[in-house]
Amino acid sequence: MSSNALTDEQPVEVIKKFKFSTKGEKEEIEIAIPELMQPGYSFYSWTSSSVLAWFLWVQREKFIGKRILEIGCGTALPGILAAKFGAKVILSDSCTLPNTLKHVNRCCKKNNLEPGRDIDVIGLTWGILLKSVFDIGPIDYIIASDCFYDPSVFEDILVTVSFLLNTPTCDTSPVKFLFTFQNRSEDWCIDHLLQKWHLKCSKVSLACVRKLCPIDFNTLIKGHTIHLLEITKLP
Ligand SMILES: C[S@@+](CC[C@H](N)C(=O)[O-])C[C@H]1O[C@@H](n2cnc3c(N)ncnc32)[C@H](O)[C@@H]1O
Repeated sequence: MSSNALTDEQPVEVIKKFKFSTKGEKEEIEIAIPELMQPGYSFYSWTSSSVLAWFLWVQREKFIGKRILEIGCGTALPGILAAKFGAKVILSDSCTLPNTLKHVNRCCKKNNLEPGRDIDVIGLTWGILLKSVFDIGPIDYIIASDCFYDPSVFEDILVTVSFLLNTPTCDTSPVKFLFTFQNRSEDWCIDHLLQKWHLKCSKVSLACVRKLCPIDFNTLIKGHTIHLLEITKLP
């Protein structure tokens, strides 16, 4: 369970390094993610976050210069990587988790990204449309990794996403929600919620990651079943 209690004791920090390159190319970026050895979903980079980060990396031409909002970002590997390769990124996690938001800022600074200058960090709690949500401004993509981990939050996520998909984009194409999902139960389903909130969902192929990522795909997914999905608003 998530623990954000403010205590005097400093949790142990371990720096995890993620190197991004492409088969046959020289360009390389290293992202350093500080992980905290303490209970809480947001202080550890989940496997889904590497898969999403690799997808953004191999497709980066598409995302450079785009405005991307990451929700439930935790240690924010995908968003930080995107900011490093030239996207305009807003990272968000729950307003109710002050230590998580503090740690998101630390993750940015560890990669020489100054919050408020090179990247934005905001509190955004799923299912609650506070002023911060209305102030986000135009976005092109919403991204998330491993946020659909508990059916009790599925509708809250989709309420927020459904609202944000109506946000004006920086160009004429509609806002898209791209997210990685780790299949933890065959019983989980969001079809009724998609219908209720006028959304459509499709699977995005990870073939480009398999082809261009120098790490073997099965090593990357660590034995889990991970899908990349895209949600857009129904016309
Ligand atoms: C399983 S973790 C995934 C973290 C990160 N995206 C990753 O893949 O490494 C789920 C994340 O959702 C955030 N979260 C949980 N409930 C939330 C809520 N109601 N509103 C916003 N974020 C929430 C947690 O703080 C945590 O960072």
